[in-house]
Amino acid sequence: MANPIRPVVTVTRRLPAAVEEALAERFECRFNAADTPLGAVGLRQALAESDAVLCTVSDDIDAAVLGTEPVRARLLANFGVGYGHIDLAAARALGVAVTNTPGVLTDDTADLAIALMLMAARGLGSGERELRSGAWTGWRPMHHLGTRLSGKTLGIVGMGRIGRAVARRAVHGFGMRLVYCSRTPLPEGEAAALDAVPLELDAVFSQADVVSLHVPSTGATRHLVDRRRLALMPRHGILVNTARGDVVDEAALVEALARGVIAAAGLDVYEREPSVSPGLLALDNVVLLPHLGSATVESRTAMGMRAMENLVAWSEGRALPDQVA
Ligand code: DGY
Repeated sequence: MANPIRPVVTVTRRLPAAVEEALAERFECRFNAADTPLGAVGLRQALAESDAVLCTVSDDIDAAVLGTEPVRARLLANFGVGYGHIDLAAARALGVAVTNTPGVLTDDTADLAIALMLMAARGLGSGERELRSGAWTGWRPMHHLGTRLSGKTLGIVGMGRIGRAVARRAVHGFGMRLVYCSRTPLPEGEAAALDAVPLELDAVFSQADVVSLHVPSTGATRHLVDRRRLALMPRHGILVNTARGDVVDEAALVEALARGVIAAAGLDVYEREPSVSPGLLALDNVVLLPHLGSATVESRTAMGMRAMENLVAWSEGRALPDQVA
């Protein structure tokens, strides 16, 4: 029988079994067995009928969704570090707290950024497509030549946890040189260990062979990579985005890749997910992954447990460990 004092929590997507079980022990959970996005109508209903909502990047919780009365929910426990899909000002105005899950997906997302760099630099996506299509005629010296990462310059935009984890892998694993632009400078010891050179944003684009993006989605970062910045990159330049799609002007990127303004790109995120610009799909010099940065059993379980820690703290009236609004 339902315990009337247990808070009602809507969980908007399926989560690893261990997380769903742990949540169900503490809360009156409304799980989403169909695992399809709730959409604006479903989200409004969740906000009206639950005490808290465990949401994800696939839930667009904007001012219109939050502005529809009644809103019973007092907490949006986001499953993910990025929360650009939640209108924080609207949540604040309603007195709805928002939390995220930092720290637990850093290594896996950094690994994926490195994978995309390698895939883009070596043309691994198109190589695999060639083999699967039966077009491979055998080894030859001039077949499918890519470019090496070792010794090249990596430009990191945004030196938060994930940016720094990518930097460590690139410098210590591949012997890349490092330039970066970040709101918060690297601590001295870390900057020295990585031999990292801080630059203005435009200079990162003009001096790096590979640029990897690690900034959140905010009004200020929207289309930070536009036609002008792409044109600053060298023609052999590679752009990698595992951050958020709207940081890049996708139409400008299609044009830059098609015209050889830059050589290649590796993308895990898109401006209008889950749609991907048809222009990108038609190009061979871009690697396209379906937002897999944190997609390991380990990260996704840890993200769920971290969201739950915030729910538990909230239900016990304690300070929220990862409050962002
Ligand atoms: C994150 O944690 O931000 C991932 O991209 C999923 O939202």
